[in-house]
Amino acid sequence: MAQTLLLLPGDGIGPEVIEQTVRVAEKVAPDLALEYGLVGGASYEEHGTPLTEETLTRAKGASAVLLGAVGGPKWAGVPRDKRPEMGLLGLRKGLDVYANLRPALCFPALADASALKRHLVEGLDILIVRELVGGVYFGEPKGIETLPDGTRRGFDNAEYTTPEIHRITRVAFDIAKGRGNYDRTWGGVCSVEKSNVMDSGQLWKEEVQALYDAELKDTGVPLHHMLADACAMQLVREPKGFDVILADNLFGDILSDEASMLTGSIGMLPSASLSDAGKPGLYEPVHGSAPDIAGQGKANPCAAILSLEMAMRWNLDRIETADAISKAVSTALEKGARTRDLGGEMSTSEMGDAILAEL
Ligand code: IPM
Ligand code: MG
Repeated sequence: MAQTLLLLPGDGIGPEVIEQTVRVAEKVAPDLALEYGLVGGASYEEHGTPLTEETLTRAKGASAVLLGAVGGPKWAGVPRDKRPEMGLLGLRKGLDVYANLRPALCFPALADASALKRHLVEGLDILIVRELVGGVYFGEPKGIETLPDGTRRGFDNAEYTTPEIHRITRVAFDIAKGRGNYDRTWGGVCSVEKSNVMDSGQLWKEEVQALYDAELKDTGVPLHHMLADACAMQLVREPKGFDVILADNLFGDILSDEASMLTGSIGMLPSASLSDAGKPGLYEPVHGSAPDIAGQGKANPCAAILSLEMAMRWNLDRIETADAISKAVSTALEKGARTRDLGGEMSTSEMGDAILAEL
């Protein structure tokens, strides 16, 4: 049976970067069946909801799903449950893609674009493994209520269970084992939480350690624990000391944005969200919809193209194709290809041309 890739371009710069990604996909995997769907604001405009049941069903039936971006000021006044972001969260939850892999990789050609000094980031290659379908993002109860005195109270519930913590911990150790970077300061897996103030954080730490002691110690992969605020600090002090950072949904969200800036541009970073083996993953660039530059041909398509690369690697079993894509991006950068976010002048499609030329 032919593999299918469901493309959900979404909002803002999403459609522009997906357009370039499609050119790459058609070139390197002509047998891959490409399908299209709506998500986020684009779906809301058409169907009154950011994610239809039909789109979710098609996503579950695809080999992999590639999403552009969702959101924009246009939908700021829409009720929360109909906001574009809810389409993304619904897709994550519906596909049960609990393991979000966010590599922060500094391409040699871009080391000077980082906010940090070259020696701190040159050769940086760390991976954030973020739990994606639990924690405070989905915990109940949540809401905003009006109190008797007329003031209001907003609340969310941060919660994790043993199975949720164990399954994401296994993914982090599996990957850390394959990477083998045990000699770094926090090499192997560095699990982060706020066990000093949060009960769910204390449980996180205890369950990661318990699983390690029971099943993972023998892999030889070291385990470190770190408070999330300390991790934010060490990420700018000694970023290359990390290897795989294991984090819950909220801390993973924040730390991955921080890590992205170490690499020079958020426009370069892909992500993969995986479920259990054999189920479709959700691939998306880490950058958002960037409404300020949408429709102007200024967006950097690299993160989307590298998200396709991750789909080839993690879901479609096309490792050689994945290697070819990442090499093409790297070579194009070495030859000087730069969009505006990287200090250059190239348009979105010119960057696409430069990468295609290397394939
Ligand atoms: C991300 C984004 C999303 C998140 C938003 C758009 C809901 O920030 O993928 O990191 O918070 O998970
Ligand atoms: Mg985020």
